[in-house]
Amino acid sequence: MTPQLFTTLRLRGTELRNRIVVSPMCQYSAVEGYIQDWHLQHHARFALGGYGAAFVEATAVTRDGRITHGCTGLWEDGQIEGMARIAGMYRDHGAVPGIQLGHAGRRASMSRPWEGNRPLALDGPDPAWPTVGPSALPEREDYPAPRELTRSEIEDLVEAFGAAVARARRAGFDVVELHGAHGYLLHSFFSPISNRREDEFGGSLDRRMRLPLLVAEAVRAAWPDELPLFYRVSSVDGVEGARSCRHSASRLWTVGFELTGLRPPTYRHPTAGDRGTTNMTIERWRLGALGLGLWLVAGAAAAQEKLVISNWDAYMPPDLLERFQAATGIEAEVAVHATNEEIMGKVTASGGM
Ligand SMILES: Cc1cc2nc3c(=O)[nH]c(=O)nc-3n(C[C@H](O)[C@H](O)[C@H](O)COP(=O)(O)O)c2cc1C
Repeated sequence: MTPQLFTTLRLRGTELRNRIVVSPMCQYSAVEGYIQDWHLQHHARFALGGYGAAFVEATAVTRDGRITHGCTGLWEDGQIEGMARIAGMYRDHGAVPGIQLGHAGRRASMSRPWEGNRPLALDGPDPAWPTVGPSALPEREDYPAPRELTRSEIEDLVEAFGAAVARARRAGFDVVELHGAHGYLLHSFFSPISNRREDEFGGSLDRRMRLPLLVAEAVRAAWPDELPLFYRVSSVDGVEGARSCRHSASRLWTVGFELTGLRPPTYRHPTAGDRGTTNMTIERWRLGALGLGLWLVAGAAAAQEKLVISNWDAYMPPDLLERFQAATGIEAEVAVHATNEEIMGKVTASGGM
């Protein structure tokens, strides 16, 4: 019998030839958001790799929504052409072309990883720009504080996501993922750690979910009904007082999103002392997953087949696998254990992160 991994997966009107998906990976090699030869080479090797689908990196919906000066963008029509070449390459080789759209929020205006991964200086070769967020709270003490977004700026942002998703469709992508993880803008509104607003976008869980859901609704409305949408969430914030994403996944479901991918804790990776704090309940998600970069969980979870995990991040609590199996009844094993250094080594060796 063909392992589930290699069977097709239908999501609305889109069919993946198998359940192996290349997750989005920033390359920090764009110019003013425009695709360069680097991106064409980067994606060409995946296009020839036989994947079911592949995602273009976190792409900014506004110019100030980039993480670095080297991030890709879809805030103007001129950027569609380069993206269309990538989407066309994947389609020509049988993979479903996908793209991740996001806004870096208070994590914007950073130097590239190989330049230190630090907030930019105003007078540097790549000058800094003012960042925005739900509240004027810097991510770390020595980071600049973002400016608190006003109500009308929030409305403009929702529109910017709608406009970017329409450009993604004109570029020929068949699936869009919203970046709602890693402490970037949508996540920062959802998390009580970064959102201390006292208006309709802050306070209770429902109010903190308000912007992510407004964006999700605007994107669903601008995206063809027969095409799937994904949303990436951070499973837990990993710090006291924060919430897990269980609360948002079911709401996204009702908006019309097919899959929520989970990522490990954002604000503080569990150290030896508090490995017990990371908890995930996943049984409520028909397509829930431990988002370790592999999107194949969708098939494995649905078919209760064996799950093979690659690149088990070094900071994953050792008992997470047992808890995953206990919670889902899915047999799982780790194929490759990778340390942070190995992952970063891989990143720097490839010249981009
Ligand atoms: C070079 C690099 C760039 C990344 N860029 C993004 C990104 O743009 N958006 C995102 O959601 N995750 C990003 N990630 C996280 C990956 O999508 C993936 O979740 C992570 O590498 C774990 O998956 P793996 O175990 O298969 O490597 C990046 C990871 C790497 C190594």
